[in-house]
Amino acid sequence: MLVYLLTYGVATRHPDGGSRGAYGRGSEAGNARRGSRNAEDRLSDRPRVFVTRRLPGDALARLSEHAQLTVWEGSSAPEPSDLLNGAQDADGLLCLLTDRIDAAFLERCPRLRVISSCSVGVDHIDLVAAAARQILVGHTPGVLAETTADLSFALLLAVARRVVDADRFVREGGWSWGHRWDPDGFLGVDVHGATLGVVGLGAVGRAVAARARGFGMRVLGWSRRRREVDGVQRVEFDALIERSDFVTLHLALTPETRGLIDRATVLRMRAGAVLVNTARGGIVDEAAVAACLRSGHLAGAAFDVFRDEPIAADNPLLAAPNVILTPHIGSASVSTRARMADLAVENLLAGLDGQPLPHGANRS
Ligand code: DGY
Repeated sequence: MLVYLLTYGVATRHPDGGSRGAYGRGSEAGNARRGSRNAEDRLSDRPRVFVTRRLPGDALARLSEHAQLTVWEGSSAPEPSDLLNGAQDADGLLCLLTDRIDAAFLERCPRLRVISSCSVGVDHIDLVAAAARQILVGHTPGVLAETTADLSFALLLAVARRVVDADRFVREGGWSWGHRWDPDGFLGVDVHGATLGVVGLGAVGRAVAARARGFGMRVLGWSRRRREVDGVQRVEFDALIERSDFVTLHLALTPETRGLIDRATVLRMRAGAVLVNTARGGIVDEAAVAACLRSGHLAGAAFDVFRDEPIAADNPLLAAPNVILTPHIGSASVSTRARMADLAVENLLAGLDGQPLPHGANRS
């Protein structure tokens, strides 16, 4: 059973059951203090918003000054049925990339006017269905590029120099007197002097390119939109794949990019190359990469994103050598997550107010 608490104007929806009040009615001491009839009336005039997780920073407190908020309080993501329960009477939805918003869902949320995703990617939202229902969709570009580029570069360095393997070796007691410095121990590949291919020259791709230049790499770049970037040699997609020692992916997942790095493309990468993906899992044929890691065609790979998240227990990458796997943490720094929440709230408030979203993601 769900519990709804009303604290500081925020109704929180909790999965653990209990009987601590009902949505729209004061049930907590703090609310009772302020719970005059007038205050309740003012609250009920406000648009209803469902927020699918607590967010870092103070953005939700600001939102609560303008809306009747219901916040999912579970420590894990709401199930699809919880998502629907929360959103079906809402005017606004503040969601995450883990919340699947498709046409059938929108059909059952007749009041919804704005969806604000606390993410830059919007592949979890059916944008065409939203546009058809005149629902505004917002996202959070521009604030997570540097943080995601940091992770991309951290993974690139860690794969190249086998940092995770070496750490495991130490912890597992392999570093013994007889192996205190092996001439052939943990040999990786050099980053300096190598060629990096950046697939996608949007904000994240450009930020990775800037880091690469600082590390003495040659940088090749390709993007669907023709972009000239200082210090990046623009080449065709095939040339980038064939000439790069490291390939790093920075594209949105769209019908055009799904499966872009397919088996044939992976096989065309240089022998001994490294692939890094912090963009979206659906861009890459994961089984083909795992096979090329096993055969030794690729020297290594790092994935922060997967076709299915969480990763399936039988995903072949789990058993492949020289691959680092992280759980979609590209934007996971304290300040970036708080800035994403700020932008998501700005979008939501604009949409509820009938204004264009500062960071709209609608497609028609
Ligand atoms: C996004 O916002 O789309 C990112 O994948 C989160 O890290």
